[in-house]
Formats: sequence, C-alpha cells, structure tokens
Amino acid sequence: MATALPIGITWIKDRGGRAALLLVGAAGEVGVSLCGAQVLWWRNHLGEVLWSATNSEYLTGKPVRGGIPLVFPWFGDHAADPKLPAHGFARNLEWRLARAVAGPEVVLEVTDDVSTRSMWPHSFRLQLVIAVAEALRIELTIQNTDTRSMRCEEALHTYLSVGDVHSCSVHGLEGLPVTEQATAPETAWDRSAPLRFRAETDRVFQGVRGHLELRAPALQRRVELDTEGANSTIVWNPWHAKTARLSQMAADDWQRFCCIESANVRERSLTLAAGQQHTLALTIRCR
Ligand code: BG6
Repeated sequence: MATALPIGITWIKDRGGRAALLLVGAAGEVGVSLCGAQVLWWRNHLGEVLWSATNSEYLTGKPVRGGIPLVFPWFGDHAADPKLPAHGFARNLEWRLARAVAGPEVVLEVTDDVSTRSMWPHSFRLQLVIAVAEALRIELTIQNTDTRSMRCEEALHTYLSVGDVHSCSVHGLEGLPVTEQATAPETAWDRSAPLRFRAETDRVFQGVRGHLELRAPALQRRVELDTEGANSTIVWNPWHAKTARLSQMAADDWQRFCCIESANVRERSLTLAAGQQHTLALTIRCR
C-alpha cells in the first residue's frame, strides 16, 4: 500500500517471504498473512498464545498449520467431491488490505472469482477485521453479493498453545449437543464435565453459549474465548495416530496444542438471502 499505515501496523514478510502485516497493540504482537487472511502468530507477555506446527510451511496458496486459518464455504471434506480442498478455499486465497486504522486494526477482503466459482457457484464478499486492543478481536463477515440465496459453513480454526494437552481443559461446552467425528475417539465421557483430552478428539458442539475458557496449567495460563454470531464450536486434537497422517507436523506435536474453532457448521450452517450478510466475532484474552 503506497499510503502510510497508522502507528502499530507495519508491512512485513512472513517466514516464507509472503506479504504480511504486523499489528502491535496493548494485547501484544500479531502477524497476519495476506494468504488466507491467516493470523500466523500472537505473542503477548506470556509468550506464544497461538500454536504452529514444528514443520510449518509458508507457501503461496496454502494455509500454515497453526495460528487461525479460515474455513469457508464448507467445513471438512466437500460433501460431493473429495478432490475439492478440505475446509473450503478461503484459507488458500490471496486477500487484500481494504483498510487500516489506529487501534491497531486492519480489514482484509476477498471476493469470488473464476476459480472460486468453479468450486462453488456463488458471488460473495468476505471481510476479516483483526484488532489488537486489550484483546485480540477477529470478525469474519460473509456477504452474499449474488441474486439468489446461498448456504455455507464457516469457522475460525484457532490453534492454541497448551504446553501439555493431557493437563488442559475446556470449560463452557458442558451439556451441549455434540457429535464426535474422530476415528479413534474416547469411548465414553462425562458430557456434564469440562472437556479433557484423553484420545483423538474431534467434537462438533451445537447451540454454544458464547463464552469458553481454556485452562492450560502447563503454561500457567487461561484463555477466554467470547463469540458473537457463532452457533457451533469444534474442539480438535488429532492425538498420535492421526498426527502421522497430517502435513507439517512432527510426531509429538499433538501434545502441545488444541484447536477451539468458533463456527457455524453442519445443521447450524448459514443460509444468506441475496444481499444479506453475517458476522461471526471472536474475542480472545490470554492471562
Ligand atoms: C478440524 C476437523 O476442524 O480440522 C478435523 O474437525 C481436521 O477433522 C482438522 O482433521 C484439520 O484439518 P486440515 O484440513 O487443516 O488438516
């Protein structure tokens, strides 16, 4: 961008030499790649809040395994065509900087093109606001710019550092309707208790209440996640067997992170009428 950026926002290159923005605010330092509008890291006085895989790759058109990749317009594998990219294409697209204001806050944007329409026949505009004030705040707005309605799924696929996944717990999902989609899951668990990781975990919770807490005693920290406009939460850890099948991962990487994804998926996917828009907002605090 030719014009000067507000204080607290700088153009940088990420580890793969890709265009990225550095935001420095009260909540710490946040790096954001234009590839996928992916938050790559967030560092505060406690260290790295977000987790990245040991063998992370920074490639054009590909998400890094870590930070906060975006999921849109479908979650997981495409229902009809397994050759289409898992978790949709938003995380592979090149986004542009639409606005940068003091705060610091940036707004990244992307719209449909020939390639997205070949995978998903709709016109849309996505905007991602990233603000680093007393907390990290992320807002994903999906606008249907088409003349007919569209159905889509979305998620902020947040990878969080936990130090030791065996000792961490997720609070606020107790008693909610849940589907476990792991291939080798824990066989039975207490649904009224905070979530603990004891096996591969890949749970889709619906009708979520909007406030969650991750306790990570190995790092002596608590992470609070507050959402607006998100009906679903996915909690994921691949455990050791699935880790071996995933890109960018070292064999023991699964022990140091979990994903808590703020989302609208499956039976809570979004239907947007022509011209309609929806915003999913996530505020993360780490103490
Ligand atoms: C989670 C899914 O959201 O993302 C898991 O629930 C999946 O099933 C994981 O393995 C990682 O997906 P990907 O495509 O980034 O490897």
